[in-house]
Order: sequence, then C-alpha cells, then structure tokens
Amino acid sequence: MKVALASDHGGINLRKEIADLLTEMEIPFEDFGCDCEGSVDYPDYALPVAKKVASGEFDRGILICGTGIGMSIAANKVKGIRCALVHDTFSAKATRGHNDSNMLAMGERVVGPGLARDIARIWLSEEYEGGRHANRVGKITEFEAQES
Ligand code: RB5
Repeated sequence: MKVALASDHGGINLRKEIADLLTEMEIPFEDFGCDCEGSVDYPDYALPVAKKVASGEFDRGILICGTGIGMSIAANKVKGIRCALVHDTFSAKATRGHNDSNMLAMGERVVGPGLARDIARIWLSEEYEGGRHANRVGKITEFEAQES
C-alpha cells in the first residue's frame, strides 16, 4: 500500500503526527504539503492528491484540514474517490468495511493526536467486506460513469 498525504495550514501538526504513524507502520507514503506559513486553500491540496489516488498512482490518501470538511468535500468531487470524514474509531472501521473508502479526512481542530492516530491505524488496517456492500458501492460507481 502506498499513501498520499496532505493538509492545509489548519492541519499541519496532525499531518506530521500521521506521517510519523505511517513511518512506524512501515507504510510507504508521500507528503504533498502544505509547507506553508500563512493560509492556503484546501482544494489546492485535496484535488491533486485525490487525482493521484483515483489514477492508481497511490492506493490511499489521507487529508487533514481544520475540520476535515473542506478536504473531504473537495476530494469527493474527483471521480472514483470515496473520501470518508472520520472522527471516531467505529466509523474508521465501518467506512473501510462497508464503503471501501480510499481516502480519509480528519480535522486537526476536532480530534486530538491520540484519537487521530487510532482512527488512521484502524482505517489503514481494515479490509473491505464486499458482499452486500459491493452492490451499494457499485451504484455510486455506476452513477459516476453515467454523469461523466
Ligand atoms: C481553514 O481556516 C479552514 O477553513 C480549513 O482548514 C478547513 O477546516 C475547511 O474545511
């Protein structure tokens, strides 16, 4: 598994925490910033990273901003992306098992580093269950195909 990681200015500290976690878990990743002092626009980070995941260049993506909301909204505009905004461990497990989410968004101003690490660890480890969920995820993929 290869992970693409990015944040805006509101998520820099948590992004560093997640980078440490990925290193500890020995999961290859690339950090796409931001390397910013001032404020930046989250779509400038969410959209290119989401495209890297959608194209298969990366298997998964993790996006951090202040709330995680802007990043998740932007990432989900990219065809093939199922970005889950998660701030609890139950949802971290469920969104992998049920939604086959390929991107995770979190908010640095919402969760502390310990919980964020637990969420990311679970999300990176859980397998997609398929079965009845495949029909549901398939309907999203079909809708995307019809829309484009
Ligand atoms: C930046 O202030 C903030 O709006 C951003 O990090 C994010 O929370 C947007 O959804």
